[in-house]
Amino acid sequence: SLTEETVVVVLGASGDLAQKKTFPALFALYAQGHLPKDVHIVGYARTKMDEAEFHKRQTGHLKPPKDDEKLAKSFDEDVKGFTSISSYIAGPYDEDKGFQELNKRLEEIEDQRKSSGKTARNRVFYMALPPSVFTVVAKGLKKNCYTNDGDNRIIIEKPFGKDFESCREMMSALKAEWTENETYRIDHYLGKEMIKNLLVLRFGNVFLDAALNKNYVSNVQITFKEPFGTEGRGGYFDEFGIIRDVCQNHLMQTLSVLAMERPVSFSAEDVRDEKVKVLRCIPPIERKDLLLGQYAASGDKPGYHDDDTVPKDSVSPTFAAMVLWINNPRWEGVPFIMKAGKALNESKVEIRIQYKDVTQGIFTDISRNELVLRIQPSEAVYLKMNSKLPGFSTRAVPVELDLSYTKRFTEAKIPQAYEALILDAFKGDHSNFVRDDELDVSWKIFTPILHWIDGKDGEKPKVESYPYGSRGPEGIDEFTAKYGYKRIGNE
Ligand code: BG6
Repeated sequence: SLTEETVVVVLGASGDLAQKKTFPALFALYAQGHLPKDVHIVGYARTKMDEAEFHKRQTGHLKPPKDDEKLAKSFDEDVKGFTSISSYIAGPYDEDKGFQELNKRLEEIEDQRKSSGKTARNRVFYMALPPSVFTVVAKGLKKNCYTNDGDNRIIIEKPFGKDFESCREMMSALKAEWTENETYRIDHYLGKEMIKNLLVLRFGNVFLDAALNKNYVSNVQITFKEPFGTEGRGGYFDEFGIIRDVCQNHLMQTLSVLAMERPVSFSAEDVRDEKVKVLRCIPPIERKDLLLGQYAASGDKPGYHDDDTVPKDSVSPTFAAMVLWINNPRWEGVPFIMKAGKALNESKVEIRIQYKDVTQGIFTDISRNELVLRIQPSEAVYLKMNSKLPGFSTRAVPVELDLSYTKRFTEAKIPQAYEALILDAFKGDHSNFVRDDELDVSWKIFTPILHWIDGKDGEKPKVESYPYGSRGPEGIDEFTAKYGYKRIGNE
């Protein structure tokens, strides 16, 4: 665990990811006193700028926390403290020279501590970089900035390739330089509070564990909805599409923790062994189990093609619904419907487990049960069940057993996903990071349909248009109904 002297190098320090996610997470950890005791942050990127300009960019997205009065009060002081431990160095990504300079800077920082008896050179490299430079930087760092006098860690983030083959190629190149133990692959969904709760909810509740299988469950939906479009990220997005952007990674991670068997222990390897095992039971998604969409202008909202960074003839999907089948004794025959879309009517990520019909018998009109795990916004677990309408009536009505975090855990401060994960990386805990073999099995499931969408097999699938701000393509309700989903109320 890195609790003492450490330097964190943020590569790609002038970019979007660093400014919107990495630095705010490091800042939050700093303000709460969770960073290692003697920590320095060094930004590295190609852009030439002086320290003042760097600090401006580094802190541009910081905001005083709304849920913590004490931290809100000390905000200005904390920002000052944070910049005082942060510096910047510009350099290229593809030449040793730049990394040699960086190494010199790291040694200077480390040597200054020597007088106080601190001699370890612990280095954490956070790669907030586009995939095009990713391998060359990993190599350059290993060659020029690796130290034998402390721990070296490298934190990397998707996209990990575009299909099974390209991911394998990228991971092999990386593996030649950095060991699995030194590598931390982020999928930030694994840092989200509700995803982390899944293991406890599932295996810490006898009644729930008993009712999560093909005997009782009709269908499972994992839904990702965003109310905004590409917003200037069209260049990146168009090359990837919604399936690579969120399904193959974020939603697949969600599915694996939801569907896996109970691990031997909470240890990183035991948990990830079970995740891999369940993914290996899923055959590649079939063409017939796929529905694609792309958003179009509606009212004053722009269409996908109105984004200047998107090619005018692009048929890249911004919406996808698909079905995965898990061929194991627990889940055989239960459709896992994955739905994800941009420019929809609301912001929501949830897991919805719908149970089979109640045996009619004494009832004429009774709803199904549903267990909903809301990941965001506002974490909640709620169970849709039936209850007698109080009074003289004997009518059964659907009601909710509701565990909303804001009502139940009023004092709790829920960390942002990146904060939780960066802290785990300092601790050396790999549980919530993606293991190399997880990527392989997950890509195998998606690669055939992705190649179809890319036109590698000739004719591409149809992509239906849907208006910005709607619930998705018109066929979506028919699609989910085909796999047994019955809408309860207006959900
Ligand atoms: C990113 C995707 O990985 O996840 C984005 O590239 C998406 O397109 C984002 O918006 C969603 O993350 P969150 O935490 O806002 O649900």
